[in-house]
Amino acid sequence: MKRIYADNSASTMVSPRALAAMLPFFSDHYANPSAIHECGGQAKKALELARRQVAASLGAMPSEIFFTSGGTESNNWAIFSAAESGSVRGRHIVSAAAEHKAILKPLERLSERGFEITLLTPDRFGRVTPESLKKAVRDDTILVTMMTANNVVGSFSDVQEYCQIVHAKKALFHTDAVQATGHLPLNVRRLGIDLMSLSAHKFHGPKGVGALFVKIPKLPFPLIDGGGQERGARSGTENVPGVVGLAEALTEAVEDLKKNRLFLTGLRDRLIQLVLAVPTAELTGDPANRLPGHASFVFAGLGHGANLVNCLNDEGISVSSGAACSAASKEGSHVLEAMNLNPDLASNALRISLSRYNTMEEVEYIAEKIGFWVPKLQAENSRRENPRFFSRQNVSSAPSEP
Ligand SMILES: Cc1ncc(COP(=O)(O)O)c(C=O)c1O
Repeated sequence: MKRIYADNSASTMVSPRALAAMLPFFSDHYANPSAIHECGGQAKKALELARRQVAASLGAMPSEIFFTSGGTESNNWAIFSAAESGSVRGRHIVSAAAEHKAILKPLERLSERGFEITLLTPDRFGRVTPESLKKAVRDDTILVTMMTANNVVGSFSDVQEYCQIVHAKKALFHTDAVQATGHLPLNVRRLGIDLMSLSAHKFHGPKGVGALFVKIPKLPFPLIDGGGQERGARSGTENVPGVVGLAEALTEAVEDLKKNRLFLTGLRDRLIQLVLAVPTAELTGDPANRLPGHASFVFAGLGHGANLVNCLNDEGISVSSGAACSAASKEGSHVLEAMNLNPDLASNALRISLSRYNTMEEVEYIAEKIGFWVPKLQAENSRRENPRFFSRQNVSSAPSEP
């Protein structure tokens, strides 16, 4: 059975072009870029070329790009660095309850260290309204961090408008653009962003490599100290193949952004149309302003979204529930709950995230199987005394939504 992969918000396939660009840096040009010999120089050259490519794709300057191990590190770094540099001016930070855990957890740490954190409640589409942001930002606010696009419901925000509000109070604006990069046009200069996180494995690059954009003249405070790589800001021997793959994947995604967006929007809208014909299906997130390949739903009475994910898995389809779940607890997605969905419904979520490698036939097959399994699971669930996870596979403890 050929599997259909439709969990691209969790991770994507490395594109053949990115892979081809990376391979020589495993086998031929594997030297340490800090070495002063010729081989080291070649690795260093590749690193700096990658930095220029990333900068060009984002409307930034090369000196504003710092390579990291991924979105989680970039988010942690942005938050701790902004807190460190801003703490003389104030100790107030604004964010939202629907952010990724890679934002919420570092903010929890700062709160333990005496920073005041305001977490705004998103609207029904998972987005913070400019009005509520305006009310929350104060003279002692040093940082506002709001994601560009939400990983669970796919809604994207008007980051430019957020920046204007935040800058009026002289605070910094950081955006977790992990889901948006390579899928939506992102020009950091035009948008006015101060700090931006991205992760290669969400746009057909490799895992374990990301970047943080930091608008100059600010330099981020080092989060990882050691040999002084990345201009002293982020120590550790650079992941040259990873960085090369990131840059190539991003360049490719940005070159083809319009074409891919059109193609994916077509697939996504057909999928949404077909799934909404299944009784009880409800779309979550913004019907219009959402990531091109992202479709997310809730279905009342499944027992748990993981039940549907497991049945679809048995049909050869890889999707996710979009909900943090574990075998031991019936926890719904913190994003859906922040959007004020009742906890029962929030735990009955399904996220289908398509890529440019999916086809219309696959989309129709996915929708057909959803239409087949949803009523069966609902009937099974209503018969059970202890409705929970009852599909063939055991649902093991899972980390929060990727
Ligand atoms: C919105 C968002 N932020 C951050 C991350 C973390 O990125 P990474 O997997 O590169 O650490 C993810 C993905 O899991 C994400 O979806």
